[in-house]
Amino acid sequence: MADQWQEAFDHAVAVARKAGKVVRDALQNEVKVMHKSSSVDLVTKTDQKVEKLIIASVKEKFPTHSFIGEESVAEGHKCELTDNPTWIIDPIDGTTNFVHGFPFIAVSIGFAVKKELEFGVVYSCVEDKMYTGQRGKGAYCDGVQLNVSALKEINHSIILSELGSNRDTIVVNKIFSTMQKILCIPVHGIRGCGTAATNMCMVASGAAEAFFEIGIHCWDIAAGAAIVREAGGVVFDVDGGPFDLMSRRMVCANNKIIADRIIKEIDVFHVERDDAKK
Ligand code: IPD
Repeated sequence: MADQWQEAFDHAVAVARKAGKVVRDALQNEVKVMHKSSSVDLVTKTDQKVEKLIIASVKEKFPTHSFIGEESVAEGHKCELTDNPTWIIDPIDGTTNFVHGFPFIAVSIGFAVKKELEFGVVYSCVEDKMYTGQRGKGAYCDGVQLNVSALKEINHSIILSELGSNRDTIVVNKIFSTMQKILCIPVHGIRGCGTAATNMCMVASGAAEAFFEIGIHCWDIAAGAAIVREAGGVVFDVDGGPFDLMSRRMVCANNKIIADRIIKEIDVFHVERDDAKK
């Protein structure tokens, strides 16, 4: 990573920690739930407040930068990735966990320049763990360098995925059929933390070999993708092509052998791209 982005990285770490404290404190109070695209697509006042806090703080320091934020997009802002330095923000990744007090909740901040990820910061705020990855500088959790698992045999692996928030029967059947095929390879287990960002940090840490999902958004995976790559892992599209941040589909893994084996089993279904609405 060019050193010019070090200041932005340091700011991202500081603001993610500050935002995470707000999220942690909010867990002590009753959470009022609202809905977005469906009755299982949840949002709270804390998501909105934390996103505003992050954007205001970054804007003050970097007034020319652009933003893509989950809640700003929900409020009608454009979801457009340009060449301009862009902060890609999920104030609470794992909103359903947050609502239920299920303790995997992350503040996720990715940063892209000329559409390339320069760094990612994922603050797992209940565990108080700060995961980071800076292009060319490695991935870390609280100062300890992260390395993906060295495993090459998928039948000894743990694979992560999520069921998402689409309840259309055809889509749900495809998700379960994919999970069944992967489970019966067989693998040691399938898990999911309820936050894509944390799942990706588990791959970066070597606690799991891969994570895949169709239906996630750029703000769920931007930071995680930078962290997985810097930990020595790979990130692909679910058809084996290059990773496309706006495509809403992704496989990341400790290596290409595991990624390819998973890709072979994925029943792909259509999702509208994040940048479809111009
Ligand atoms: C969600 C989480 C979840 C994944 C969903 C995401 P949110 O993000 O990352 O693990 O399955 O696809 O939308 O809504 O909690 O920010």
